[in-house]
Amino acid sequence: MRSFRFYLLLCLLGANGWAEELPATLILTWEKDPCRSMTALWLRGPGLGETPRKDLPEVIQWKKVGEGSWQPAATESSPFPDPDKMGKPRWTLVKARWDRLEPGGEYLFKIGSSPEAKFCTAPQNIGSGVTFVEGGDIDIADSSFKMMVLGARQNPLFMSLGGDLAYGDGHDIKREIAFWKQWRQAAIAPDGRLIPLVPGIGNHEVKGGYVQEGATFEEMKARAPFFYAWFGGLYRQAEPVALDFGDYLSMLLLDSGHVLPIASQTGWLKENLEKRKAVPWVFASWHVSTYPSFRKWKDQKEIVQTREEWVPVLEQSGVAAVFTHHEHNLQRVESEGQTGRKIPVLGNGAMGVEARPQNCPESKALTKAFAQSDYLNVIQLRPKGVIVRSLGPEGEELDRVDLPLRAKP
Ligand SMILES: [Fe+2]
Repeated sequence: MRSFRFYLLLCLLGANGWAEELPATLILTWEKDPCRSMTALWLRGPGLGETPRKDLPEVIQWKKVGEGSWQPAATESSPFPDPDKMGKPRWTLVKARWDRLEPGGEYLFKIGSSPEAKFCTAPQNIGSGVTFVEGGDIDIADSSFKMMVLGARQNPLFMSLGGDLAYGDGHDIKREIAFWKQWRQAAIAPDGRLIPLVPGIGNHEVKGGYVQEGATFEEMKARAPFFYAWFGGLYRQAEPVALDFGDYLSMLLLDSGHVLPIASQTGWLKENLEKRKAVPWVFASWHVSTYPSFRKWKDQKEIVQTREEWVPVLEQSGVAAVFTHHEHNLQRVESEGQTGRKIPVLGNGAMGVEARPQNCPESKALTKAFAQSDYLNVIQLRPKGVIVRSLGPEGEELDRVDLPLRAKP
């Protein structure tokens, strides 16, 4: 009888080993050079698998596709913020980082006895072309999942989400977990590759939504605990982030007054655009729309400030386009060109939320396209130009714009 019980236990353990899946909240993202690094993040704890211990850490194995033996990778774990539990974390954040990878490389990894997962680093050169997907204002609805899946089906190198992701407002951990579970299920390319996320912050990542008068960076980060727990390895300093993809693409990720004051970023923007004069495709992205579509121009101080602080700098630069969000519909405008050339501003964030009407007379005058619809942008970079297609929930093309390659300085 005892030996039968032992046999049963072995069978159960064996069955459990077979059943081990990739973590339900697994996210791939970049903290460093997208051509040479990758970071994987996931939660453990109630409902999400056993919490790793110092004497029993998570075991990762990885290798380059086509190469022989698996190698171990170290993980780090830390308590995941749990504001509603008054600082008593229920979940643990686990992180694995790879660097010194090869540009344009295909890699496999396993977590414990999970199936193999695949990721790709960014190529060093544009080659025949690179595609990425962009959107924002997502939520945890069925419509949000549908839009994430639509994005993944475009087989993008990465998806850039410009804020208002889970609508957890810096405290709702259940919402946060539900969002990343959806992302894990959706962000899979047609060939099974996991799609990395380029994250941006919005008001719904932050308690109170916006910078508090006189608050320090550390104090403001504490008001956006989930965002900085996940993505503090990218957003390390009290300034925006520039992610450079080889010699062909740069993403400038700004903060429209959520943790960093808007005016504090203007000098950084100027300097970082200047540094990237030779990069053919530079995009800036932030959350609050500078050319609102539902609100009016004077309805929110961040609308006014981003226009006054950043538009003149951008109009005098070679930026290809700006992505904005927060208004929950599709609206493409061109800036007024009062301080330089007119720049395309592609907004305004609706990737699963209920779409709102266009109510803004000032922006209407600058509008090139509008749809009261969820949408995402598919940006196809080609050696001689960019095509941006805005797709609605059924994959229908709501807007399309060609951005010509600008003359080299
Ligand atoms: Fe927002």
